[in-house]
Amino acid sequence: MNNLVIDGKILFSREESSAEETELFRYIMKVIYIRKQSYILLIGVGFVLAVLFLLNIRNGERVANSRKNNAEIINRRVPLHNLCNTALDLREKVDRYEISGSGKYNFSYCMVYKAATTTWLRIIRFLNGEDLSLKSPFDSSKYRTHYYNASKFIPYFKYNQNQDFLDNSLRVMTVRDPYTRLWSAYIDKFLLPDFWHTRGRCIVNLLRKRKADQTSLRCGHNVTFKEFVEYVVSPNEESKRWHQDKHWIPATEMCRLDQFKPHIILKQENLRKDIFKIFKKLNLPASIDKTSSEDLTDYEMMDQLDYVFKVSNFDCVSPATLGERIWKAFQYNSYIPLEIMYPKDEFHNNLTMENMRSVLRSRRESWLVKSEVKKLQKREAMISAYKTVPLKTLYELRNYYKDDFKAFGYESKPSDIFEPFIGS
Ligand SMILES: *[C@@H]1O[C@H](CO)[C@@H](O)[C@H](O)[C@H]1NC(C)=O
Ligand SMILES: *[C@@H]1O[C@H](CO)[C@@H](O)[C@H](O)[C@H]1NC(C)=O
Ligand SMILES: *[C@@H]1O[C@H](CO)[C@@H](O)[C@H](O)[C@H]1NC(C)=O
Ligand SMILES: *[C@@H]1O[C@H](CO)[C@@H](O)[C@H](O)[C@H]1NC(C)=O
Repeated sequence: MNNLVIDGKILFSREESSAEETELFRYIMKVIYIRKQSYILLIGVGFVLAVLFLLNIRNGERVANSRKNNAEIINRRVPLHNLCNTALDLREKVDRYEISGSGKYNFSYCMVYKAATTTWLRIIRFLNGEDLSLKSPFDSSKYRTHYYNASKFIPYFKYNQNQDFLDNSLRVMTVRDPYTRLWSAYIDKFLLPDFWHTRGRCIVNLLRKRKADQTSLRCGHNVTFKEFVEYVVSPNEESKRWHQDKHWIPATEMCRLDQFKPHIILKQENLRKDIFKIFKKLNLPASIDKTSSEDLTDYEMMDQLDYVFKVSNFDCVSPATLGERIWKAFQYNSYIPLEIMYPKDEFHNNLTMENMRSVLRSRRESWLVKSEVKKLQKREAMISAYKTVPLKTLYELRNYYKDDFKAFGYESKPSDIFEPFIGS
């Protein structure tokens, strides 16, 4: 089967699909009323849409004729209203996609995205016999971990079908403070490019309504944190499911505790310390805990750079703007001190991953910042973002994650997030 490509991003292929892509693919099929996987019909509908498009050229949008561009048309011509209001069956999704693990090592892992998922997927791939030229699971990039041969090395276990295994394996999951989890999802998916063409466009359409400009409607590239939070807690029942996404659905909803019955719940906040205990308990090979890089910040930055440049297309944002976004994201994550300005001139209008890498590496030595300072900077960046969110919305958010706060012992009303409003 051929790939379906939208805006230069491969959305689906049999060999290298991810749950995200599969979900999107299924949803596209639904929108254009294909209930069975009929590729002929898909091409037919693509053709009809292309004809409609030809009759309807506006805003100087180019007429496209390649297969890639047909898919693009499908994406663009789907009325945004439909795109953003489709209900997904969450239960089916959870059962189908979100519990992985390793039969050999007798453990199952329920994934709460944005809570160490990439780390666990690396481990799971490694244990399931991925290319052993890798010395450690951490030699695999984030991009590779999610997209290359994923179906081969990342098994998914379902209730009923794999009940025995799920009943008898050691069941593990990782959770994270909902406020930091959501902020991190925003940085990864909306500040940096990843969800711009999907959720980003929906958010612009739903929240800006008539005020939305054409570029933002087409690109979804500049959703603000305030808009994102409003979207997540949006009370519209009909669209609620679609507003949800595994990157921010409450952990208690992704991994219903009464069904998954975890033996071990790790917290992302203590993961570096605690994960080794699990490795030991599971008798994992010793090589598992070796990161190839001693410098974790460097490792994380380079991995993110690689990912961002792989998922970016420059339709919607210039390399210079992307560079600034990356810089900002790295400041929010405390990789770069806040006071260091984006060194635009050093790229001489030629921003490539290689150039960015070398600038970051050469300048970093002068930055070495104490870890307490880093922690503080990271927290402060997040607090500033939450300060843009109206109090009413913050309370809705608190309500949205209420089960997570309770189940995992996180503070539901951190004073620094709610502070500016206290007493006002
Ligand atoms: C995927 O698996 C196949 C078969 O084992 C292998 O030949 C190929 O190199 C893998 N692809 C990637 C990108 O690792
Ligand atoms: C798998 O782990 C579970 C829970 O720790 C244990 O009860 C079970 O005996 C193990 N099964 C095997 C085959 O090792
Ligand atoms: C988003 O981008 C468009 C076009 O670049 C711009 O006109 C608009 O002001 C931006 N909106 C926000 C909220 O940044
Ligand atoms: C941009 O930088 C890359 C190295 O990252 C180099 O190969 C390329 O020639 C440069 N292009 C221009 C136009 O300077």
